[in-house]
Amino acid sequence: MTASTAAPPAAPAAPPDPVNVLKAFAGLRRLLGTYPPAHPMIAQKLRELDELVRQHLRRGPVLEIDVIDGEVRLDGVSFGTDRQANAQAIRELSDLGIDSIHIREGVEAEELRTVAEFLWQFKDASSSDSLESQLSRRGVRHVSLARLVQLDTRWRSQQWPDAPTGPLDPAYAESLALAEQTFETVASGRRLDAMTIRGLVELLIYRVARSNAALGQILAVKQYENLTYCHSVNVAMLSLLIGKQIGLDDAALASLVEAALLHDIGKTKIPLDVVKKPGALEKRERKMMEAHTTFGAEILVQTEGLRPMTPIVALEHHRSVKGTGYPDLGAAVPHVMSQIVSVADIYEAITGARTYQAPTLPERACLVLARLAGEKLNSALVKAFVNAITFFPLGSMVRTTRDEIAIVVGINPCDPLHPQLALVNESGDGPGTRIDCSARALTGAYERHIVETVLPQGNAPDMTQFFSASPA
Ligand SMILES: [Fe+2]
Repeated sequence: MTASTAAPPAAPAAPPDPVNVLKAFAGLRRLLGTYPPAHPMIAQKLRELDELVRQHLRRGPVLEIDVIDGEVRLDGVSFGTDRQANAQAIRELSDLGIDSIHIREGVEAEELRTVAEFLWQFKDASSSDSLESQLSRRGVRHVSLARLVQLDTRWRSQQWPDAPTGPLDPAYAESLALAEQTFETVASGRRLDAMTIRGLVELLIYRVARSNAALGQILAVKQYENLTYCHSVNVAMLSLLIGKQIGLDDAALASLVEAALLHDIGKTKIPLDVVKKPGALEKRERKMMEAHTTFGAEILVQTEGLRPMTPIVALEHHRSVKGTGYPDLGAAVPHVMSQIVSVADIYEAITGARTYQAPTLPERACLVLARLAGEKLNSALVKAFVNAITFFPLGSMVRTTRDEIAIVVGINPCDPLHPQLALVNESGDGPGTRIDCSARALTGAYERHIVETVLPQGNAPDMTQFFSASPA
């Protein structure tokens, strides 16, 4: 940090806009990549960034800027700035995979320059080294860059219900109750019972998967912050859909469902305040959270009667197809079962709510998967998943070109973008007229299209009624 002889002014009433720091970082990064190092524009931009950082650090010893779902947070609190105007600076960093910049007291201007240089050279972290060690090698001690841990589910929430509300499909409700019991057993230090798991796997494959109402409740956007057991049941069902789509046989499907169901069992060993913490995790907390993979594998390998893939998937489900991710297992590419669970895990996590963000709608979640395909996720499995669930999955609430609000109650396999719908009554609580969205007028033109998925306002409609009124 450049020296200043001026006495620090009194702390301002409102914090300075953190977006200006992001903009200055992004600007400096571009200048460093474009102009020679001694160019005056670089020096000027560095001074600007340095001054902005100093303004923030007058308010406290650490400046924490996190970008969560496009929204800038300063020290964990949403700053509520104009998203549109700030979009470019935010996007530049998030395209690099950086969602979080923490700067500590004592930072020097040269360190800020080094970080900006690093960001210019940084290409989606193909290095297996952590960001921290890469920065540390460059002499950066007071700045941390991080990707936010978006995939970690929470056990409880202040803002959202912590499990599905309203009537549930009976088989789905039974599977959730059994899974909750299983996770509590392990959390309390007792042994996992392989026979209970076998029963639960059969329940999922033979009853839950055959109920459109259950699938609707699992696939549609989830207005609750799902506890780990609930997330696990949902991931098991989504993995099953991928497994069926790629033609796995019955034995492999059972193995996949068991592994998916228990992939996060290691979270029962992580302190709840870390599991529940919204936003970016500190390094120590992140390491702890990452350990759920090895904890899970240890628990599962010690449980007699489980299928051999189960501990492997627990160990590998946060590793990418490029061999990056955690835990560090060298360049080893994860088993295809782990790759399937990774796809399901991400979709399930982002279509669920978080203390700090609304759930992502299914069609947007599919686009997120598409963006990760080839880098983190297996492209063929992403394709299989999107084909299996379609852009408008069962249970989704959608708006049509005739301004109707309806629930998707059936998929037309030959025309998945024009599914079977049941209109939502004006009272919003029951199935109205059934519509085949693929119907065409005499001219050959579609009578209606789906415009978008919408988030149910207030209480979500009772899916069990919508699906009981429609043939499976
Ligand atoms: Fe996980």
